Amino acid sequence: MPDAGQEEDRALAARRAAALGPAYRLFYRKPVHIVRGAGVELFDSQGNAYLDAYNNVASVGHCHPRVTAAIAAQAAILNTHTRYLSEGVVAYAERLLGLLPATLGHVMFTCSGSEANDLALRLARGFTGAEGVIVTENAYHGVTEALAELSPSTGNPLGARVRTVRPPDARRDGAEAGEAFARSVRDAVADLAGAGLRPAALLLDTILSSDGIVSDPAGVLAPAVDAIRRAGGLFIADEVQPGFGRTGAGMWGFSRHGLSPDIVTMGKPMGAGHPIAAVAARADIVAAFGARSRYFNTFGGNPVSVAAGQAVLDVIRDEDLVANAARVGAAMMDEMRSLAAADPRIVEVRGAGLFIGVELDSGNLATEVVNALRDRFILISAAGRSGNVLKIRPPLPFGLPHADRLLGALSSVLRSL
Ligand SMILES: Cc1ncc(COP(=O)(O)O)c(C=O)c1O
Repeated sequence: MPDAGQEEDRALAARRAAALGPAYRLFYRKPVHIVRGAGVELFDSQGNAYLDAYNNVASVGHCHPRVTAAIAAQAAILNTHTRYLSEGVVAYAERLLGLLPATLGHVMFTCSGSEANDLALRLARGFTGAEGVIVTENAYHGVTEALAELSPSTGNPLGARVRTVRPPDARRDGAEAGEAFARSVRDAVADLAGAGLRPAALLLDTILSSDGIVSDPAGVLAPAVDAIRRAGGLFIADEVQPGFGRTGAGMWGFSRHGLSPDIVTMGKPMGAGHPIAAVAARADIVAAFGARSRYFNTFGGNPVSVAAGQAVLDVIRDEDLVANAARVGAAMMDEMRSLAAADPRIVEVRGAGLFIGVELDSGNLATEVVNALRDRFILISAAGRSGNVLKIRPPLPFGLPHADRLLGALSSVLRSL
């Protein structure tokens, strides 16, 4: 017999569907009703604790006290916009620039990764005078109309000025993976030319999350970046997923590949749950944009968001979270590879730091694993074109004991299926 909590959740799901409509989706066969978060745990309305191995937005842990204190303190003093002189936004932009390659001259603030990518497209198209954009075949870059046309993972039709390329595949192409990827970018450029279009940009999530987490080998993206530049386009690194230390190899996914982007977009983990996002770009690209337009974003770069952003950077530094991501991620991948050696249904384990993809031989199996783990109070999800890659992407304070719990449950779930 369903308990009172289940009845309440069913009623809430029905009200949700009625109020929000059919485009919204819930995770899990048995949805989770979360009411509170702390560190790497989430708690449901019945008081059950879940180990969070999925949420990258709460990058420094759910409701980190230093982040919530910084938000509350600034909210009690002032919250306006960027058209008054204000120390906070300037100091934060300077700090971000100090963490980025010196070739990037300016930071512009937005409220979401979508807005950041949308602005990046305006910068790239304005600077190059070209329209074409190349993305990967299961890319996701955001919700605006301009981004929906280059986010094939949503099921939205591709725009006429967009071409897709298959992500690099080291399993298929071995040491040639980077070259093969570059070749497909050159083919996409040629295809655009056939339609009378020049490329403005190659836009890549540098860990290719929605394409199934494609992280290796480090450096594999470099020949493609070279190819887009030779064709007159810019390289936009979408750091919304890998940015802020997730890969355990410095702050950015692109640095792991030895790349120096023309434009970088960032968001999600930047405010650990507070909506703050940004674009960093070469000064000459911003100069061309600034000569044509003024930029104002009502909420982007407001003092409260900036306080959250500063606190996140402080926590990443003080708690040594990049090193933690490297250490725990590597240990987890080692163990998962041992599981894979004994289980032919595990095709590959890949990833960097605390962004791990476990490719299974079917999307159905991945769905079963994700739901079975949920029933054991562990939250993960699945990614990739067929949804067959387990997506493990916990808050960065995820430690070795958390990893052990996840691995134990994963191995037992796989045995039971
Ligand atoms: C790679 C990537 N880029 C951009 C976005 C869009 O960010 P937001 O949802 O903050 O608009 C997402 C969101 O999932 C993303 O994964």
